[in-house]
Amino acid sequence: MQSKYLIKNKKLKTEIIIKNNYIFKFIKNISIKNEKVFCILDSKININLEITKLKNIKIISINCGEKLKSFDRYKNLSEKLIRGNVNRKSAVIAIGGGTLGDLAGFVASTLLRGLDFYLIPTTLLSQVDSSIGGKNGINSNYGKNLIGTFYQPKKVLIDISILNSLPNREIRSGYAEIIKHALIKDYSFFCWLEKNTNKLLSLNKSFLEKAIYKSIMIKLFYVKKDEKEILLNKNSRAMLNFGHTIGHAVESCYNYKKFNHGEAISIGMITEAKISNYLGLLSSKELDRIIVHFQKCKLKIFDNILKDKTLIKKLIKDKKNFLNNINFSLIDKIGSSIFYKKLDKNKVYKILQNI
Ligand SMILES: NC(=O)c1ccc[n+]([C@@H]2O[C@H](COP(=O)([O-])OP(=O)(O)OC[C@H]3O[C@@H](n4cnc5c(N)ncnc54)[C@H](O)[C@@H]3O)[C@@H](O)[C@H]2O)c1
Ligand SMILES: [Zn+2]
Repeated sequence: MQSKYLIKNKKLKTEIIIKNNYIFKFIKNISIKNEKVFCILDSKININLEITKLKNIKIISINCGEKLKSFDRYKNLSEKLIRGNVNRKSAVIAIGGGTLGDLAGFVASTLLRGLDFYLIPTTLLSQVDSSIGGKNGINSNYGKNLIGTFYQPKKVLIDISILNSLPNREIRSGYAEIIKHALIKDYSFFCWLEKNTNKLLSLNKSFLEKAIYKSIMIKLFYVKKDEKEILLNKNSRAMLNFGHTIGHAVESCYNYKKFNHGEAISIGMITEAKISNYLGLLSSKELDRIIVHFQKCKLKIFDNILKDKTLIKKLIKDKKNFLNNINFSLIDKIGSSIFYKKLDKNKVYKILQNI
């Protein structure tokens, strides 16, 4: 079967394949080229039994969720691979959502100073976002994703047939990152999303593959220009953080229990769009249009914690922020983002009381 989309990037040395019902073949090809292959698998995924019969494959099944991204689980997984006689000719394949990909990528990049790494993202969120761009990592008590590396996977396979078992709540969570990509970079993509929301949320194959492809291309635009997030302009990878300054703080206030990532960043995007509007950057008409779309998709737009002082404390701990300033990537139009706006924490608190 032909790939629906094949994206090769020489600079990043990575390849992204969007292809349906291709998981077995993909893993088999890797098993032929490597001495030993460790498949780190989300325990909620039922994989083809044929895969377990490939002779050099070791499957490690784990329960996933934000708690996976910890020092303990990093140690545990690394030492499992060491006990399994991992060597430089071994490869790691992560088959799971963003939490598993972030942990497995960190393990693959540090174990024996770097092993060949492959990703098969199994949530919509990981297909459109976390599997792209080579960031991985774990959380610390002081904040999210504070420990990690940049390490590009050799190949990423996006197979939407794996999404059939994904709960609706998780589909919407991934859809939130798709909207984020449209909001920061592509007005016509946002209009297309508005028109096709129902088809996308009910997993219509060709529409969904197109949305995933468009999303990946927007993310890659920033990653190619600014892999290590050092630019200080409109092309900075930091643009992808729209909604995340507030979103990460909301997630953290509830200890990652009340909201999943997409829900928290939905609240974050609407709040940061309101901040953009409050600062005179985004028109009220466009703000309303964004809110209407979020409501139509049943995405979260508000939580009481936004008015609470604990949120400000969490914001200060974000790795993007220094002293009492909080950095935001905001939008000035639908489809156009602007580089970090530094706001004093007292001003942010005041704005949050007024929006
Ligand atoms: N590295 C990056 O660039 C990047 C970018 C965005 C997000 N992230 C990270 O990604 C994480 C969120 O990822 P996520 O939303 O995929 O979360 P997740 O990995 O926790 O998956 C969500 C839930 O879906 C289950 N699941 C996964 N695939 C399934 C399937 N096919 N069928 C049924 N259930 C399935 C998981 O077990 C879990 O319960 C966060 O930690 C976030 O920080 C990283
Ligand atoms: Zn995100």
